[in-house]
Amino acid sequence: IKRVAVLTGGGDAPGLNAVIRAIVKTAIREYGVEVIGFRDGFKGVMEKLVTPLSEREVSGILPRGGTILGTTNRDNPFHFQVGEGVYEDRSDQCIDIINQYADALIIIGGDGSLSIGFELAQKGLNIVGCPKTIDNDLAVGEAKTFGFDTAYAFATEALDRLHSTAESHHRIIVLEVMGRYAGHIALHSGIAGGADIILLPEIPFSYDNIIKKLEERQNQNKRFSLVVVAEGAKTREGELVVQNYVSQSPDPIRLGGIGEVVAKELERLTGIECRVTVLGHLQRGGSPTPHDRILATRYGVAAMDLVAQGKFGSVVALAGDSLKPIPLAEVAKGIRKVNTAGDLLKCAKKIGISFGD
Ligand code: F6P
Repeated sequence: IKRVAVLTGGGDAPGLNAVIRAIVKTAIREYGVEVIGFRDGFKGVMEKLVTPLSEREVSGILPRGGTILGTTNRDNPFHFQVGEGVYEDRSDQCIDIINQYADALIIIGGDGSLSIGFELAQKGLNIVGCPKTIDNDLAVGEAKTFGFDTAYAFATEALDRLHSTAESHHRIIVLEVMGRYAGHIALHSGIAGGADIILLPEIPFSYDNIIKKLEERQNQNKRFSLVVVAEGAKTREGELVVQNYVSQSPDPIRLGGIGEVVAKELERLTGIECRVTVLGHLQRGGSPTPHDRILATRYGVAAMDLVAQGKFGSVVALAGDSLKPIPLAEVAKGIRKVNTAGDLLKCAKKIGISFGD
């Protein structure tokens, strides 16, 4: 291997720059391998947006959020838009371009980009994946994805701040956090931030059960409550309730509708004043926590080690304290949901947190 290419794909996550930095340093110092970056994910591959990456380019980027390479979450070479509503399989062209510039490609991405990576690897391209998402929902065994720690630390801080204002005004405050398909951010921040009710995509909720919890608190003379809701949370009846309120939108959850819906419904049902805060992309921006900087650095080093060893078709992951590559095929199979029979959930229930189930 003489030259390796790197790209960042999908939604950004704090720690992307730390991974890029670690790849470049390891490639140059440890293996004498040159690194180039494709800008803006797979779009940049198709458009040959190539940029050299030396130690100079990665200097000072460790604590910076976002990605110096840029990213998009639309362009897929297997389903590439070539005109208005016209898509073609341009994967062969994509492979030719990558081969023209490098001997291997490291994809730092989530389920979308890593699934594309899997398909490219099936066609013979040398691919190593690096798992990224603030949602922590990639199928990488026990491993965490970088960006998650930063995201839920921010959501926890938000809960701490909402606590005092909810208490002062005797209100219910609903905090909506990201997590379209999995509720890891909601569960972790909810426990860390002392939420009373946590609503997850994995556990359909009923308003009756939430009300029971709110009544229990009132009976204890607790005149405020905090509810954390993941954007993909659903009632037992499905998404119907969400659509009642934001029926104009074809994709209501994406618009951050669920927090608003829950707050309105709880105010109607209890007569208690409710407010909602939608954290949105604040969870994705900003500087990575020390934990994420270390995880991202380890993943970057490990990704470059795999490239140097010729172990392609795999994704780096950390199980306990050891780095264990996982086949791209496994990661491409699907996402990792919150384990509803797991210890963390049981622990939350034992201290009285309600999941509305
Ligand atoms: O995949 C991470 C994620 O944060 C999801 O939880 C959320 O639904 C989505 O990204 C939002 O993406 P976009 O930036 O495209 O609105």
